[in-house]
Amino acid sequence: MSQRKILVTSALPYANGPLHMGHLVEYIQTDIWVRFQKLSGNQCTYVCADDAHGTAISLHAEKQGISPEESVARINIERIRDFGEFHVAFDNYHSTHSQENRKLSEAIYLALKEKGHIVSRNIIQAYDPEKQMFLADRYIKGDCPKCGASGQYGDNCEACGATYSPAELKNARSAISGAAPVDKESEHFFFKLSDFADFLKQWTRSGTISEEIANKLAEWLDAGLQDWDISRDAPYFGFEIPGETGKYFYVWLDAPIGYMAAFENLCQRRDDLNFDEYWQKDSQCEVHHFIGKDIVNFHCLFWPAMLHGTNYRTPTRVNVHGYLTVNGEKMSKSRGTFITARTYLEHLDPEYLRYYYAAKLSNRIDDLDLNTDDFIQRVNSDLVGKVVNIASRNAGFINKRFGGRLSSDNSAPELTADFQEAAQRIAGHYEGREFGKAMREIMALADKANAWIDEVKPWVVAKEQGKDQILHDICSTGINLFRLLMIYLKPVLPAMTVKAEAFLNVAPLTWQDSQTLLLDHNVNKFEPLMTRVEADKVASMIEASKEVLAQMESSNKPAETSAVSSEWLEQDPVADEITFDDFARVDLRIARIVNAELVEGAGKLLRLTLDIGEPEPRNVFAGIKSAYAPEALVGKHTVMVANLAPRKMKFGVSEGMVLAAGPGGKDLWILEPHEGAQPGMRVM
Ligand code: MSP
Ligand code: ZN
Repeated sequence: MSQRKILVTSALPYANGPLHMGHLVEYIQTDIWVRFQKLSGNQCTYVCADDAHGTAISLHAEKQGISPEESVARINIERIRDFGEFHVAFDNYHSTHSQENRKLSEAIYLALKEKGHIVSRNIIQAYDPEKQMFLADRYIKGDCPKCGASGQYGDNCEACGATYSPAELKNARSAISGAAPVDKESEHFFFKLSDFADFLKQWTRSGTISEEIANKLAEWLDAGLQDWDISRDAPYFGFEIPGETGKYFYVWLDAPIGYMAAFENLCQRRDDLNFDEYWQKDSQCEVHHFIGKDIVNFHCLFWPAMLHGTNYRTPTRVNVHGYLTVNGEKMSKSRGTFITARTYLEHLDPEYLRYYYAAKLSNRIDDLDLNTDDFIQRVNSDLVGKVVNIASRNAGFINKRFGGRLSSDNSAPELTADFQEAAQRIAGHYEGREFGKAMREIMALADKANAWIDEVKPWVVAKEQGKDQILHDICSTGINLFRLLMIYLKPVLPAMTVKAEAFLNVAPLTWQDSQTLLLDHNVNKFEPLMTRVEADKVASMIEASKEVLAQMESSNKPAETSAVSSEWLEQDPVADEITFDDFARVDLRIARIVNAELVEGAGKLLRLTLDIGEPEPRNVFAGIKSAYAPEALVGKHTVMVANLAPRKMKFGVSEGMVLAAGPGGKDLWILEPHEGAQPGMRVM
């Protein structure tokens, strides 16, 4: 087969916080695919960069009292170290805040403009008069227009789940300065995505993305494409738009161009790589992007349109993965499952995680779960119990009885042939990003090898007179089977493979080596290749994660914390699946409505006084004014959440929540238990 030339990218991580377990799904997935391509003899180049621009990054820098450049530089150092220790091996790790990227971004913008794909118009946006900057939705907070909950960001309420436009927020405040935002008009530049509707309809169905994703995009494509706002007003950390003053490229315009820039930067020091050969319109080279499902529209609509509109080639494929959950839930600060790359490295071997992710990954966009018990069990049973075991069961005899030399005969030719034939199937799984299938296939082979060893019992043969040759052949065969497994696992376990290669006394293994055997060959002393995962290390990692988060939180200025960190921090879920234990923590009680009254200035709220059999009545604000006149409620029994943390609202403190059902408005009914339910009774 002829050598393919493949350029591979992972999404460029924002330079405003540490790498975490979620990010690593992507970088490990990509790295495994790249290593497989290299191992197979293809010319494969893996580039990435820091995504350095935008408000989140400049605010992050400001909080630390340093310039964005300085902050990005610091994060870059940590990051390169983290990636390296996880064996994520980029050919180049660049930055979007680079000369190459500026030049390419300007050129692409100007070419699009010249072809009439850029238009400008004035828009009205929220503006922070104190900070003198426009505010993106997530930097505006206020009271929910629906339930009145305070401190809600952007366009949805975490308390009641309502969605709205940020302009509807009551008592809106800038999350950055605390000032009340004002409306201000400004000229913005737009990319006319609709010019590319026909191209995109065809491109998305040409094998570049999975059908799953193409179907999703078809909803947008059929609904009609909106112009894309590609400019931001000063102050903004980014590239100024050529020919304009005080206007900057929106971070998502120059970010994907950063892929090209990182490659161009590498081409400057690599004679075997040529930028145009990879990026010109009719390039025969391949370009593969790996991304998470949250950034599909940027990569499968805007990006191919920009490239097509400027006469560059478009991506060969955009590979999309799902999101990581930990123990079945979104990563959570309080549960200690928001684990940074660094915290993991301080406790556990990175190859455990590489193997675990590989075992869980498919080419679909389903979310994948890092279950800590399953993690321990699977790594120990598969890698230590199955793979390493094959080597350790045979290496001792080879070293002690046969001077470290493998025999020239094979005592399980059929089994060995099975192993060698599997190379093609496993390669197919790697190529198609079906890593889970590849791992299952490899472990099935390991099971076969162990079963065979159990059957031929070298430890029994070793005690029998005159059976040296048989023992020698068995153990040599075992070592060869182990070697084949290590070839197949090499993309996933590069460090363990290096140790195996040292033991086997061979040059770095390639995929093609699976078609040969090691006969009549000296091996070295066997050293342990991997130790078992210890459960208490996993537990201390979780504990340490809680502390790391506490530190990061306390070093942030309160007003800015959530807005900035939500960029990279998964918020605790609003309505995700909960465990029975979570449910059991909700204290539901029967309450008698002692009093209900209107609240001045609150559109939808009633103030309820509730008797739940405690000495003090509870004060609760409920958004049910549209459905009930206050007097209609007095004396009724209802169900309330009695252990909800008190919430300070504009009108006073709300000490719980009353449960109601219905679509809202007039059609809303408080839950009314009957049949003897008395105040204070628990609801089960
Ligand atoms: N800067 C943009 C990408 C620009 S690409 C031109 C960005 N950065 S990010 O840091 O938020 O995310 C980087 C990658 O990590 C994305 O592909 C994202 O989907 C992925 N992940 C971030 N959190 C993740 C999980 N919890 N789980 C799986 N992948 C996650 O987006
Ligand atoms: Zn609300």
